[in-house]
Amino acid sequence: MVQAVSAPGVIDLGPGYLEPSLLPVDEVLTLYAEALTEFGPAALTYGANAGAEPLRALLAARNGCTAEETMVTAGTSQALALLCTVLGRPGRSVVVERTSYDLGRRIMTDHGLRLREADGDGEGMRPQALDRALSHSDVAFVYLTPTFHNPTGTVAGESRRRKLLAVAARRGVPIVEDDAYTELSLDGTAPPPSLAVLARRRGVIRLGSFAKTLGPGLRLGWLEAEPDLIKRLTGRGQLVSGGALNHLTSLAVTMLMGDFRYDRRLARLREQLRVRRDALVSALQAVMDDSVTVNRPSGGFFVWLTFDPQRSEASLLAAASRAGVAVAPGSRFGSEAGTHLRLAYSFNSPDRLAAAAARLAAAWRNEETPR
Ligand SMILES: Cc1ncc(COP(=O)(O)O)c(C=O)c1O
Repeated sequence: MVQAVSAPGVIDLGPGYLEPSLLPVDEVLTLYAEALTEFGPAALTYGANAGAEPLRALLAARNGCTAEETMVTAGTSQALALLCTVLGRPGRSVVVERTSYDLGRRIMTDHGLRLREADGDGEGMRPQALDRALSHSDVAFVYLTPTFHNPTGTVAGESRRRKLLAVAARRGVPIVEDDAYTELSLDGTAPPPSLAVLARRRGVIRLGSFAKTLGPGLRLGWLEAEPDLIKRLTGRGQLVSGGALNHLTSLAVTMLMGDFRYDRRLARLREQLRVRRDALVSALQAVMDDSVTVNRPSGGFFVWLTFDPQRSEASLLAAASRAGVAVAPGSRFGSEAGTHLRLAYSFNSPDRLAAAAARLAAAWRNEETPR
């Protein structure tokens, strides 16, 4: 039934999912009934290629753009795959952060694109590194997650964002901004404006998703871009043949976004995630020795651990596994130097997160670290 099933007894900090108790089952149940009542048979036809107008209008109003700059997608993964077919060609390359979302990388390489990794720092990709990467003429686009990055949790400040935009604009290469976590700011302050807003969408394609705010099983998201690109994307055979990929679900979510319920849901979810982040981070800080750096992300789902580079990722993982905790290896996300692990706080209760931290600290303290 589900993509990932944790082994019995294991506290699973691996997946970037919401834990089942955070998924709004009862609310979604009523949304489908509301959508069918409101839209009748139109809810069961092929949807408009760019997505149902009511949802595009609500998304556009929320994101400060127009409906012509917005199309509905079946989530960020599908949007990225579609973009690869329009912006990319096998043999061309994409500039990515050295450490970046593993499955985004996989979608791009599945389409025959090569990855050019550019160095980053505590604010994500460095503009000079981007400039160097863009000196190659084969780059189809740049893929960035400037807000609550997966896996590092970093946020690029506004000045960094403007510099990256300036470099890409000077080189004439579009940026794909993966903004899956932007609504999940956990400290009461909004993140800096998106790249799309700063560039007024010129040369920026922004990908949004309901996977992290409502539930990934909805397979619903959206894409913001200049109208000409939206026309090219919605003119692809897949959409002309079948219409928008997720018509009924998009109408169900229209019912939620059309009134106060979406914002109420987000406020509650931010609080639930904040409690989980605090539980994991404070438990880790209390028990880990100072050979491990624990970041405290201001949003999103992940804590990124940085170890003494002498320590071996394989033996840290093996020790965690023996202690009954699953975590994600840093090497899965690219080729950054050093030893890192990613811990998700979205997928377990605060008590289990604290228990996981205690298990990990004991396991890693006792572990021999042959390389
Ligand atoms: C950065 C990032 N982009 C995209 C996705 C997947 O989004 P979707 O479920 O909308 O395809 C994830 C999920 O882990 C993610 O972390």
